[in-house]
Amino acid sequence: MMQLQSDRLYYRRFTPADDVLMYALDSNPEVHRYLGNNPVTDICQVQVYINSLLDQYERNGIGRMAAFTKDTDEFIGWGGLKLEHNVNGREQFYDIGYRLLPQFWGKGYATESATFFIDYGFTTLNIPVINATALRANIASCKGLIKSGLTEIETFDYNGDEAVWFEVRRKLSL
Ligand SMILES: CC(C)(COP(=O)(O)OP(=O)(O)OC[C@H]1O[C@@H](n2cnc3c(N)ncnc32)[C@H](O)[C@@H]1OP(=O)(O)O)[C@@H](O)C(=O)NCCC(=O)NCCS
Repeated sequence: MMQLQSDRLYYRRFTPADDVLMYALDSNPEVHRYLGNNPVTDICQVQVYINSLLDQYERNGIGRMAAFTKDTDEFIGWGGLKLEHNVNGREQFYDIGYRLLPQFWGKGYATESATFFIDYGFTTLNIPVINATALRANIASCKGLIKSGLTEIETFDYNGDEAVWFEVRRKLSL
């Protein structure tokens, strides 16, 4: 599998050997603050998640990818596209997302990865529209999505919280 890269980060598919890295990310309560406040408590849970990612890579050709710093080769979390279903009344759509370890927040990495994968989706995968969702209260996420070129389209209820539906469309070059 080809390795992808942006300015300061590189990306690769997750493998079953990444369970410890994924556990560090998903057992962190700070990381899960706006993700339902339900961090994992057993490594088996991330093993199930990694298996679902392997399945998505196989079936859809895409899925969230592990992100690493180029200079220090540290795992920072994940970014990328996912073929998502049944959110805000949409049956199927391409979702851009990110989830980073707190020590790597505030450095522009989320924006860098989202900008990279949106361009990858448009130019390499030929996807015409990419969406994203975030809770309104998740200010860093909403700002990162806007900075990455998405536009707020509408809001919707997500388990009693206000969520924002974002979109970006491929520009057609004439
Ligand atoms: C959301 C998340 C990925 C943002 O990552 P990040 O690398 O810190 O984001 P960036 O550095 O690219 O910053 C994006 C923008 O948000 C701003 N921002 C970052 N943290 C912020 C905070 N706590 N409060 C307000 N603004 C913040 C940044 O300053 C930047 O805007 P600016 O350039 O106008 O200043 C990170 O906080 C995270 O992993 N959170 C936990 C998982 C999660 O919530 N994922 C998103 C689910 S929708």
